[in-house]
Amino acid sequence: MAGSPYLQVDDYEPVAKSKLPADVYDFYAGGAGDERTLAENVRAFDRWVLRPRVLQGIASVDPSTTVLGAPLSMPILVAPWAFQRRAHPDGELATVRAAARAGTVAVISSTAAEHLEEVAAAGSGTTWWQLYLYSDVGRSAELIRRVVDAGFDAICWTVDLPVLGIRHRDTRSGLTVPVGLDQEKLEYEPALSWDHLSFIRDHAPGLPVLVKGILRAEDGVRAVEHGADAVVVSNHGGRQLDGCPAGLDALPEVVEAVDGRLPVLMDGGVRRGTDVLKALALGASAILIGRAAVWGLAAEGEAGVTGVLGILRAELENAMTLTGCATLADVDRALVAPAP
Ligand code: FNR
Repeated sequence: MAGSPYLQVDDYEPVAKSKLPADVYDFYAGGAGDERTLAENVRAFDRWVLRPRVLQGIASVDPSTTVLGAPLSMPILVAPWAFQRRAHPDGELATVRAAARAGTVAVISSTAAEHLEEVAAAGSGTTWWQLYLYSDVGRSAELIRRVVDAGFDAICWTVDLPVLGIRHRDTRSGLTVPVGLDQEKLEYEPALSWDHLSFIRDHAPGLPVLVKGILRAEDGVRAVEHGADAVVVSNHGGRQLDGCPAGLDALPEVVEAVDGRLPVLMDGGVRRGTDVLKALALGASAILIGRAAVWGLAAEGEAGVTGVLGILRAELENAMTLTGCATLADVDRALVAPAP
């Protein structure tokens, strides 16, 4: 009998593509402008090589870690991504269940606001809420109140979408996204500023707040100064500003500037366990997967997300063994070097 058709994360995308309407596939796969940043996110990992350390006497490896007080079986989280019920009828419910089973965090997109209580109830593990602020302050306050009441464990505030990126695939296809994310009728706050961080804190006392969408050292420092609990180095999967740096390329300067004062997570282009290890070696506390999870859900529902997380975990453990890292504490900057 043949084994699973899914040997690596990239095996899920063609299956997902065959199951999705073309416009929805393009919405998930596409990026802004000429999609240069989208491509760079993946390519950036090729600019680094791993430097194996041999003869470390390692019988088994343990990739578990803790981020913002949450014990994780591995440093791989599911990034927030929009409109999951368009990928599979179970949508966000499947995602939170798969993440919980894998012992990691799912971050749920603000676009799932209409059923956030149901999503929170489905996840037995740690679930974070990704927040877009609305222009209507009262509506934002109400959303945050519901997030707190529903029991989400942290708020991941996305700051790189004051307006939508220019996405030609969606314009061409005429994709209709639910009201609220329509290019002309975007209801999100465009004039985002650091002051909004205290607004979020005031309405979610006690919940850690991550700032997602940082690409510069100075903004990492500002996040520290304004009391963020963590930052996510991210260019939104190449969907916002085309021509900005890959997530992995921006990571080292933010790590250096933040200097251990808060955890630095990253996303963009992670497709294999060795990518995860490279990001950790460059200072990330954990990474998030966007499209890898999208393709898993679209191809196989909850089982697909479970499959993707399982593959990444197995690949990370394999890479840790082959580089002589028993735990994540053994992963340091010397584990990578610029590719020759
Ligand atoms: C996203 N992303 C995103 N981010 C966010 O904060 N809120 C959101 O609603 C969405 N929606 C969304 C939809 C789709 C289809 C994708 C692919 C991405 C960005 C996401 O959280 C993450 O930053 C990137 O997906 C990471 O890059 P990779 O892993 O897709 O290469």
